[in-house]
Amino acid sequence: MNDGGGAARPTIHRFADPAALAEGAAAWIADALAGAIAARGQAGLALAGGNTPRALHRQLAARGEAIDWGAITVWFGDERCVPPDDVASNYRMARDTLLDRLPMAPAAVERIAGERGPADAAADYQRRLELAPPLDLVVLGMGDDGHVASWFPATPEPAPGALAVASLGPNPPHDRVTLTPRALAAADAIVLLVSGAAKATRLAEVYGELEAGRPTLPAARASARPAVHWFLDEAAAAALPDGTAAETIDDPRAQRGKELS
Ligand code: 6PG
Repeated sequence: MNDGGGAARPTIHRFADPAALAEGAAAWIADALAGAIAARGQAGLALAGGNTPRALHRQLAARGEAIDWGAITVWFGDERCVPPDDVASNYRMARDTLLDRLPMAPAAVERIAGERGPADAAADYQRRLELAPPLDLVVLGMGDDGHVASWFPATPEPAPGALAVASLGPNPPHDRVTLTPRALAAADAIVLLVSGAAKATRLAEVYGELEAGRPTLPAARASARPAVHWFLDEAAAAALPDGTAAETIDDPRAQRGKELS
């Protein structure tokens, strides 16, 4: 994991509201996936859990056959150790908001088998990740404590070779499986999706850690590398220093593909 921090800065895309954020992130992700497929004939995409990605997923599904899902393997950044049809399952959320709405099946859906329990599910996911090419794009959300996936501030540092580990979340379901910093560092690109005023102060803290070259929060460590794109609505970006993004994008359709640094 490039924890040097100092040099790397995320590219910040700011949007007026959650709806514009979802549309703008979907447009950028669709372009990134098309680029990976054009270059390598396939793409590996890891989805985030929680609630923020729901609107993004609906926007991705609405793009229909414009995204070549038949060339995309869908992975997960993390999972709760519950059955796949449990309301707390990140897989279930992705199935309901994206996978069941696609015009074609993805090349593969690499679900984390959380129902097998944390240790067994993590070992199983590790084995599959080891056999696969590095992920092209990992979508992450950020918790209000600065966690990403199920890598929390209190999560012990994983073994150097680990790509997936068991972790404990502060809120139930406590048992989780998560991609590790190494797996995130190996991905071609990272999208961090943050929405809402409740996260503004923490996001500014993360940004400050990157500015100081001392990333310690998981969201900062995951962002302290090249090819990281923060997709924010104005509420989440409100506490960032002035000038961290050239302008707010009100209508992503008019600004598609425009990157703000
Ligand atoms: C999870 C997610 C987690 C999530 C953040 C933000 O399993 O809960 O992977 O990392 O992205 O907690 O969650 P919200 O989008 O619901 O705020």
